[in-house]
Amino acid sequence: MTNTHRRQEDYDLLTLATRTIPRYTSYPTAPQFTADVDAAIYGSWLDMEADRDAPVSIYLHVPFCRSICNYCGCTTKAALRDDPVRAYAEVLKDEIRLVGARTGRVAVSHLHWGGGTPNILPPDCMAELVGLLSETFRFRDDMEHAIELDPRHVTVDGMACLAGLGVNRVSLGVQTLDDRVQKAIARVQPLAIVEDAMRAISQAGIADVNFDLMFGLPFQTEASIKATVEQAVRLAPSRFAVFGYAHVPWMKPHQRLIADETLPDAGARIAQARLARRLLVTAGYHGVGIDHFARGSDPLVAAMRNGTMRRNFQGYTTDTASTLIGLGASSISRTPSGYAQNLPDNAGWQRRIRAGELPVARGKAIDAVDRMRGDIIESILCFFEADLAVIAKRHGIPVDLFGPDIVRLRTEMGTRVRIDDWRTGIERDPHETARLVASHFDGYLHSNGRYSVAV
Ligand SMILES: C[S@@+](CC[C@H](N)C(=O)[O-])C[C@H]1O[C@@H](n2cnc3c(N)ncnc32)[C@H](O)[C@@H]1O
Ligand code: SF4
Repeated sequence: MTNTHRRQEDYDLLTLATRTIPRYTSYPTAPQFTADVDAAIYGSWLDMEADRDAPVSIYLHVPFCRSICNYCGCTTKAALRDDPVRAYAEVLKDEIRLVGARTGRVAVSHLHWGGGTPNILPPDCMAELVGLLSETFRFRDDMEHAIELDPRHVTVDGMACLAGLGVNRVSLGVQTLDDRVQKAIARVQPLAIVEDAMRAISQAGIADVNFDLMFGLPFQTEASIKATVEQAVRLAPSRFAVFGYAHVPWMKPHQRLIADETLPDAGARIAQARLARRLLVTAGYHGVGIDHFARGSDPLVAAMRNGTMRRNFQGYTTDTASTLIGLGASSISRTPSGYAQNLPDNAGWQRRIRAGELPVARGKAIDAVDRMRGDIIESILCFFEADLAVIAKRHGIPVDLFGPDIVRLRTEMGTRVRIDDWRTGIERDPHETARLVASHFDGYLHSNGRYSVAV
């Protein structure tokens, strides 16, 4: 390749990577959700679970943190004291009972606590919630029980309690170990804190640990990414997720505390992501999808290789359950019939549950075409390719439906994609372009929504 050609390629990639594209943790994506899906409809979907003899996944959202990080894009609020957290846990119990009354005692293959900071829950609350969940549903013996942890709040006793409740996988929000970046994001968390957290996790006998890292944060440079990744690798977690900072101050006003001029530009973001990837692969981790990395022994790598890996709201997963029951304010549930999202504000969510109603705010019923397009998008994001003919056949829909999508894809992506007898794959820069390629199969994209940049 000549230098001129390479410069043109880099320019093209920058243009593509700065397009705003959904993250595709669901399809259809959240902007398509409407009030057409209400408590009655979601209730009827849950009733069907009682008749389907298939395991489900459960996600519990804990929307509290001790303080709010400037970059945070999650649905959470600051709680300095335990009272609001305890009150929330009480209502969560009522929601568990409401949902369980519809589904019956279905088997659970995955249980995931997300947030916010779920380790803010006092140990007695956590124990009561797990006790109630295991009475209401049926925990499979091999159930993955995962929790997102803020390392600043991990303690030896807390970890022993979580392990005692069956937690067998944890995810630590590490983000960056650079002091200047940490100050700019209002999350001061020196390496020693992460080291202590790792010691407590290991002492509790939990071996499966993920680190979340970020690039594109204020003042982040390739040098700071390199230092962070090298320090993090020394702590030997089994997985990494490396997320690009999504700067969406129009949706998350506290992100205005991050001055635009301190943010790396599009070219620097791509270079940081690539450097992190190179360092992690050199350290022996396998690249998984667009932003995950895992040790060869991690089941995620086997799932990637045998084609069973899935993508859901938490990222890439070995979880193959077709139903995900979301509990807690703002949680999204997915069933074979569609998506349902709980009311996002705590007060509204609590009121509805206290009134004995499922706290659904909105959602989207899905039809066969949605399911097929969702499978294609998921395949592209998991494996950087999709066999449209095979997927269309599985859904009983003529593959010709994709004729116009393929024409648009070819025109826009040129030789970056390979299309061979309906088999569509990404030839170059798959990590940077997968969301964009997938978006060509999104039947709703041009109707509304404003998203973060692709890299
Ligand atoms: C709920 S938090 C993890 C648990 C815990 N609250 C913590 O921060 O340690 C989930 C992850 O989302 C990622 N994240 C949060 N805000 C983000 C943003 N604006 N853009 C990209 N990733 C973000 C961070 O990597 C974070 O670890
Ligand atoms: S990044 Fe984690 S700790 Fe920070 S505000 Fe968001 S959810 Fe809370």
